[in-house]
Amino acid sequence: MTTSLVSTDVLIIGCGAAGLSLALRLAKAARVVALAKGPLHEGSTYYAQGGVSAVLDAGDSIESHLHDTLIAGAGLCHADAVRFTVEHGRTVIEWLSEQGVPFTMESNAEGGADYHLHREGGHSHRRIVHAADATGRAIQTTLEKRASQHPNITLHDHHSVVDLIVSRKLGLAGNRCLGAYVLNRDSGQVEVIAARFVVLATGGASRVYLYSSNPDGSTGDGIAMAWRAGCRVANMEFMQFHPTCLYHPQAKNFLISEAVRGEGGHLLLPDGTRFMRNFDTRMELAPRDIVARAIDHEMKRLGAECMYLDISHKPANFVKDHFPNIYAKCLEYGFDMTRQPIPVVPAAHYTCGGVITDLRARTDVEGLYAVGEVAFTGLHGANRMASNSLLECLVFAAAAAEDIRPQLERAPAPPALPAWDESRVTDSDEEVVVSHNWAELRQFMWDYVGIVRTNKRLQRAQNRVELLLREIDEYYGNFRISSNLIELRNLAQVAELIIRSALARKESRGLHYTLDYPLANEAAPVRDTVLVPTNFAGAEVLPYWRD
Ligand code: FAD
Ligand code: SIN
Repeated sequence: MTTSLVSTDVLIIGCGAAGLSLALRLAKAARVVALAKGPLHEGSTYYAQGGVSAVLDAGDSIESHLHDTLIAGAGLCHADAVRFTVEHGRTVIEWLSEQGVPFTMESNAEGGADYHLHREGGHSHRRIVHAADATGRAIQTTLEKRASQHPNITLHDHHSVVDLIVSRKLGLAGNRCLGAYVLNRDSGQVEVIAARFVVLATGGASRVYLYSSNPDGSTGDGIAMAWRAGCRVANMEFMQFHPTCLYHPQAKNFLISEAVRGEGGHLLLPDGTRFMRNFDTRMELAPRDIVARAIDHEMKRLGAECMYLDISHKPANFVKDHFPNIYAKCLEYGFDMTRQPIPVVPAAHYTCGGVITDLRARTDVEGLYAVGEVAFTGLHGANRMASNSLLECLVFAAAAAEDIRPQLERAPAPPALPAWDESRVTDSDEEVVVSHNWAELRQFMWDYVGIVRTNKRLQRAQNRVELLLREIDEYYGNFRISSNLIELRNLAQVAELIIRSALARKESRGLHYTLDYPLANEAAPVRDTVLVPTNFAGAEVLPYWRD
């Protein structure tokens, strides 16, 4: 049976900063359908605290932002991607302000107001534009409101994309993305959406680890779907751990922003000794990989459950003014940060690798774009610098819109697409398989593929993930799908890509640290880890990719 229930110009999978800003930038010229697999707001964007990096201070410069990003990226950033991103910082901040995002301002000498700027690790200047300490919430709610008011944008929450539909799989010429199969979580039906252009804006994969700062939906769906569709992925070994999540059994991944260290917070051992001086001259403001590893090292050395972050030496009003949400949340759990240190632990936070794109956000599959945390643009290298991620979402969404707009007239209308085939599946009688495999995957990823790695641990993880993939594949082939199964299948695929990439890198660099090769290999040229799927069609769409 062939049927396409919905047909649109642009299908955007994801409603975070990347997806919604792209939708708004395209909506004058195109009909846009944007999907979120849970509630509309529920992605990493909503939880972002620190802010968006941009060169706005008179004493700062593009060259300085570029330099800091390259240093944090430990030799693997692509200078063209970094320059492209940082040069667009000011324009995307102004665009967000025009949309109505209420950034924190301060009065200037001329009687006007400037953006108040925070400082974070790796940045040599104050350049983090923020809305108090809940910047993501301000961006998400503002963009959501704007998008829901636009007549050309249709937003659907609780719609999980199962897979992309590409022409080659249908026996048609070329390899163009034609749409997607989508599980409507309210009706339980799998629907077909056909589109001239499809954009992955699905966020990262940090929930592949047992402990993560991310919301539950960060399961790498876009990376796994793109891989299955024939896209290359790069640098998946560089999973970033945020040094400071609140350590409390009920706090569930609550982040303590790096801006707390930027405003003078100290990291302490349980006995109150400041320890970062033993690891880096930049102390608490060293790049994240260094700080997270230092905390991990001290926790293991002392057998301690956590380390402590202390900003109680600053005036109480200063702390409450700068960090009202963090202050209130900590108080909820019994910690008054104006008077005492807060217990903290590292947790998986950000996916530096992803689906390879060019500077227009195009992927290897024609008509398919990737924007935001799902993408690998070359910006972050071996370690993302704080607050460069929302910037990347916004800059590359604008670039994708520029690229798609002029093609709208001539892009082929998608053909009628086949309906989802459920003829050979039944309802599962063993849901426990999904929950068990999910827990097992996250546990061994944390134990074997975490902050400190070894060949032996990675090998163990690889053996286990191969087994899991076979089991999940069989389950997927036999039973009706559910949103949990979609996520588990994607998580396992992404775990396999992370492990494979980590095994391929025979050195320590940035976020990838292995006891078997504790130093960076400076003798060989520095290279990205590029994984190529068996159905890769050759560099037809990204011929100039710099490997
Ligand atoms: P997200 O905002 O994660 O949105 C993903 C969207 O994709 C969601 O709508 C989700 O429902 C949808 N989706 C996923 N899979 C599917 C599917 N299969 N079908 C349909 N929809 C799907 N970065 C900074 O630059 N500054 C910060 O201060 C900062 N603070 C952070 C604090 C926290 C606690 C966290 C977790 C991250 C922080 N980051 C920060 C990182 C940054 O927030 C993210 O990288 C960024 O928000 C990602 O945006 P996105 O639009 O790519 O994805
Ligand atoms: C934070 O506020 O510490 C998070 C910033 C980021 O991840 O970029």
